[in-house]
Amino acid sequence: MSSADIYRELILDYYRNPRNFGKLENVDISSRDTNPLCGDEIEIQVRVGEDQKIEEVKFTGKGCAISQASASMLTELAKGKPLEWVKELVKEDVFEMLGNPDLGPSRVKCALLGMKVLKTGVYGYLGAHYEDQDASTPP
Ligand code: FES
Repeated sequence: MSSADIYRELILDYYRNPRNFGKLENVDISSRDTNPLCGDEIEIQVRVGEDQKIEEVKFTGKGCAISQASASMLTELAKGKPLEWVKELVKEDVFEMLGNPDLGPSRVKCALLGMKVLKTGVYGYLGAHYEDQDASTPP
């Protein structure tokens, strides 16, 4: 099995058995957005703990395997990290997390939807505005 196959299996596994799927109680951050190309959506909720760290994070949504797996993997990575870590996330981090699959432009939006939602929520919580660099990328 090639490493591309292993990551493809991993993406499907996260899609079928999403980690951190659900809603939180006592939410500090709640952020939601859709992929404009298909209407699929992701919502991410975060409870912020001491030292501005992500104490708990969950997501809900509907969409393709890449969008849902990417959001789920991102919640796993984000748990316990400082909010600043989210601000520093870049799309290459998400591609790496997914095993650098060969994504066409429309699938890139699927892969990055979770990051966009998380960043928008964290920036809002910190009183800042997140400018989605990828929004200008043509489909
Ligand atoms: Fe809708 Fe991927 S096709 S998010």
